[in-house]
Amino acid sequence: MPSQPYTASHAHETNGPLPAAIFTVFGATGDLSLRYIMPTLLHMESENLFPEGFAIIAAGRREISTAQFFELLDNAGYLPEVSKESKQRFMRRVEYLSVSFDLPESFDKLSRRIGDRSGDPLGYGHECFNRFYYFAVAPKYFALGAKYLKEHGLLEPCSEHGRTIRLMIEKPFGADQSSAAALDLSLLEYFTEHQIYRTDHYLGKETVQNMLVLRFANEFLEPIWNRDYVDHVEISMLESDGVGRRGATYDAVGALSDVVQNHLLQLLAFTAMERPAKNDAESLRDEKCIVLKDLRPYTAKTIFGNVVRGQYQEYSKEIGKEGHSQTETFVAIKTFIDNKRWKGVPFYLRSGKKMPKRIAEISVHFKPNKNDLFSTEDVKPNILSVQLQPKEKITMRINNKIPGAMKLHSGELVFNYEDQFHSEAPPAYERLFLDFFQGDQRLFIRNDEIQAAWKFVDSIRDNWNSENAPLQSYASGQNEPQESEKLINSAGHSWFTN
Ligand SMILES: NC(=O)c1ccc[n+]([C@@H]2O[C@H](COP(=O)([O-])OP(=O)(O)OC[C@H]3O[C@@H](n4cnc5c(N)ncnc54)[C@H](OP(=O)(O)O)[C@@H]3O)[C@@H](O)[C@H]2O)c1
Repeated sequence: MPSQPYTASHAHETNGPLPAAIFTVFGATGDLSLRYIMPTLLHMESENLFPEGFAIIAAGRREISTAQFFELLDNAGYLPEVSKESKQRFMRRVEYLSVSFDLPESFDKLSRRIGDRSGDPLGYGHECFNRFYYFAVAPKYFALGAKYLKEHGLLEPCSEHGRTIRLMIEKPFGADQSSAAALDLSLLEYFTEHQIYRTDHYLGKETVQNMLVLRFANEFLEPIWNRDYVDHVEISMLESDGVGRRGATYDAVGALSDVVQNHLLQLLAFTAMERPAKNDAESLRDEKCIVLKDLRPYTAKTIFGNVVRGQYQEYSKEIGKEGHSQTETFVAIKTFIDNKRWKGVPFYLRSGKKMPKRIAEISVHFKPNKNDLFSTEDVKPNILSVQLQPKEKITMRINNKIPGAMKLHSGELVFNYEDQFHSEAPPAYERLFLDFFQGDQRLFIRNDEIQAAWKFVDSIRDNWNSENAPLQSYASGQNEPQESEKLINSAGHSWFTN
């Protein structure tokens, strides 16, 4: 059967047209916005995804004009190549406004600006319209921003006209379980849980979404997706870059909170969850949350040998704290999920900066085949890997016969997005924006998931602190700490990445 050709509709399924709305992006002049948000919105413009009456307000602290904002965007160098018409349409759609969280009165400007647009510019026949907000700013401003929006009448609901108000926020969601709970409480004063869209852009990646299809639309996997057949699972997210310009911010966070608490635990949840009762946001998030709650927390005794922390050699110097930073740039973890399906199966998680190669991959290692037909040395265990970076692809390692001899060879069945659909997978943020505008929370994280993930991560951080856990040094771009190898070798396993 020929593979189905890729079409734009594969990439941008929208569940119908997007609603007219005013989308205000706070932090529009920041790195996140210049690098991802604005380029994605321009890309969406080039695909004609916005309806008439979809306005974008780019809000930053600095006092600049809309023309200067576009100069900033152009100079940042992340905008995609689009047609002149698309760019011009986008420039008409976006307006820059200086709004500062230090100056509550600057929200008057926002309120007037949104007010100015409300004499029916969106074609509703009334003054009500959807208001979508994105706080692409430091989390310390989230509660303040919500308060000012409320005080300026920008969160008023309108059941009569079905006006929708939603908020999208970016990690970090707290620095531990208690600060995450406090952040939630402060936001829940102004928004309901159904209005809050917590983003982990990894969930916008096609391969992560495909985990659901892979697992629950291929029935043959279900009987073997458990402790009887799975030997161990590895989830790695390795970067070749160092901390770069993020030095000061990163130093207050570290790899455990920056990557493990969110990206890695979300990937683990997608890999290990039970089948959701329905393909809707609550059922999916219920099942992910159960897995996160079933993670076995660490104690002062179990932390050693099961969790490794490391730092690349030049890190302290790079961030201007020579020899003094205790922040980890590498973490390796061996953990267990205490439920019926996964009891006794090790899950190895690993994340690091300045690694020899950049790769993000989940690999499920099946138990060695016991058979008396072939030499057990020749029969290699089957491995199913889902790679998110650098390529989005799925591979299955199977044993085959070498031509001309009754000898075995372990080879790969490959499903590669680019080859299959003749295009790279669409950008993660595009999927997330489409869902946000259309009110689909499946790919956004619920507050109880955040709490459960922090509870697990806190058990590591607290025991690291109380037990003075050593920080292993490793050579940039060459290897990971030796202790990481020991951690996985102790159970007879070794790190695997395609
Ligand atoms: N960058 C990423 O790739 C990335 C990825 C995931 C999550 N995040 C998170 O997203 C958030 C923003 O990150 P970023 O990298 O974009 O930070 P950034 O480059 O430092 O930008 C911060 C933004 O916030 C604005 N801002 C700062 N103080 C303000 C105030 N008092 N009132 C109003 N606006 C203010 C800045 O405006 P001016 O520039 O005009 O001063 C700028 O637009 C952070 O929480 C970060 O952890 C970032």
